[in-house]
Amino acid sequence: MGNLTLSDVSKTYGGTVNVLNDINLDITAGELIVFVGPSGCGKSTLLRMIAGLEKITGGDLAIDGQRMNDVPPAQRRIAMVFQSYALYPHMTVRENMAFALKLAKKSKEEIAEAVDEAARKLQLTDYLDRLPKALSGGQRQRVAIGRSIVRDPKIYLFDEPLSNLDAALRVATRIEIARLKEEMPDRTMIYVTHDQVEAMTLADRIVVLANKGIAQVGSPLELYEKPQNEMVATFIGSPAMNLLPGKITGTGAQTEVTLDAGGKTLSNVPTEASDMGKQVNIGVRPEHLEATDGEGLFTGHVDITEALGEVTLLYFETVGTDPALIAKLPGVHKDRRGQQVSMTAAPEHVHLFHEGQSLLYR
Ligand SMILES: Nc1ncnc2c1ncn2[C@@H]1O[C@H](COP(=O)(O)OP(=O)(O)O)[C@@H](O)[C@H]1O
Ligand SMILES: [Mg+2]
Repeated sequence: MGNLTLSDVSKTYGGTVNVLNDINLDITAGELIVFVGPSGCGKSTLLRMIAGLEKITGGDLAIDGQRMNDVPPAQRRIAMVFQSYALYPHMTVRENMAFALKLAKKSKEEIAEAVDEAARKLQLTDYLDRLPKALSGGQRQRVAIGRSIVRDPKIYLFDEPLSNLDAALRVATRIEIARLKEEMPDRTMIYVTHDQVEAMTLADRIVVLANKGIAQVGSPLELYEKPQNEMVATFIGSPAMNLLPGKITGTGAQTEVTLDAGGKTLSNVPTEASDMGKQVNIGVRPEHLEATDGEGLFTGHVDITEALGEVTLLYFETVGTDPALIAKLPGVHKDRRGQQVSMTAAPEHVHLFHEGQSLLYR
């Protein structure tokens, strides 16, 4: 088990600083949930409240149907892994992993079995007799995870566990975590990260936190394909979705939108007659803009190009847009710098937001 329910959970620091408001969330045992959101939006605070390290100032937290607000951390069967791994430097990997079980006065056999099993899951068997200083950063972080596995928690909480690692180790350790999750399909994991790729690849569901609340909960592809609001639309995906102001000038299954800067586009977001004339922001992801030789939707002067090898980013200015729009084109297009380009987008890739909310959801 390891079902988690947050009901109207709020946090106010020191009686005055309100950080989170009325968070409602149901997490099913075995899910891997990722919290993302801008720095300072309360990701760590929410995780620490679940762990019991921070007082819940409003609402209820339940684990498997039992109210947990006043249960001390050690009795919640939750393990938390932080960015800094804080291993005991004078103890071997085996001793580090065994430490909590020794304190709990478990038998030698029981400890050996738990440590060997955790080491196997984390590919640390060959390193059990080493000291932490003889390990890479990624291995150290796995030992830190191993220390919590031996206690067999129902719920694992990770707070940006990979952000101290360099890029290559981060990828390798991310894959280890994905494998670990597969080895423990019934254990719940909640993972905080600011890394989009970690969020998209690890999560069963992503929770986007913003403005003291939940902006959207959904599978990674739901958030990418059907963002509920401009916050999620611009937060998920890199570079961020382009937004341009316009007005609805034709309704129905295919909506016609006229850009304030001139030009028309179509969107597959269905609209009703009463939507006529509504001000909207039109959202198109950089990877969904296509260069055209004909009359494009957005025409502009390419200011900067960034060739990344597999793709090129074109920053171009059109009337009424600030900042510049970004297009991501496959291949190398450095020669486009200084040129006029014309771009279009297929209707299925044109998002519509009215007062910040997607017209897909209402
Ligand atoms: N102990 C504290 N006292 C007062 N404010 C705090 C405390 N801890 C965090 N905060 C504030 O709460 C907000 C959320 O912090 P945090 O949960 O650490 O954000 P995140 O992990 O999303 O970056 C921030 O504005 C931060 O300054
Ligand atoms: Mg944090």
